[in-house]
Amino acid sequence: MANVLVIHGPNLNLLGEREKEIYGEADLVQINSEIKKKALGLGHQIEAFQSNDEGEIVTQIQKAAENYKAIIINPAAFTHYSIAIRDAVAAIKIPVIEVHLSNIYAREEFRQKSIISAVASGVISGFGSQSYLLALEAVNSLIE
Ligand code: DQA
Repeated sequence: MANVLVIHGPNLNLLGEREKEIYGEADLVQINSEIKKKALGLGHQIEAFQSNDEGEIVTQIQKAAENYKAIIINPAAFTHYSIAIRDAVAAIKIPVIEVHLSNIYAREEFRQKSIISAVASGVISGFGSQSYLLALEAVNSLIE
């Protein structure tokens, strides 16, 4: 049974073709398989999904608290304005690691503010697809 849920937010289904100079060449299938491989090495199993829909992400966060030990989430554009996702993260007790491929603090002003960070267990931003792997290391030490 998977014990870590990985959530990819809006437009991340376009990775590998979308703004490659910022987000890199790898597509979501490749990134998910890297995450799966790393997770297995650490003795965890991940379930990953992508959604462009804020409500679906909120529902999955609520449900995850029953079935998973931790969440790794790249909320993508919702990072900057979704109070609903923030409230869902704040409502659950399992650790939630916020991840970004790009360094949001080095980008446009509107991206420099995350409204999720204050309720996340921690944030990893700016290491490309490696950010997800670093998040797994963090999860590993948090749920050991
Ligand atoms: C992102 C950064 C966000 O500002 C942006 O809207 C994304 C991806 C990242 O992974 O760097 O879609 O979360």
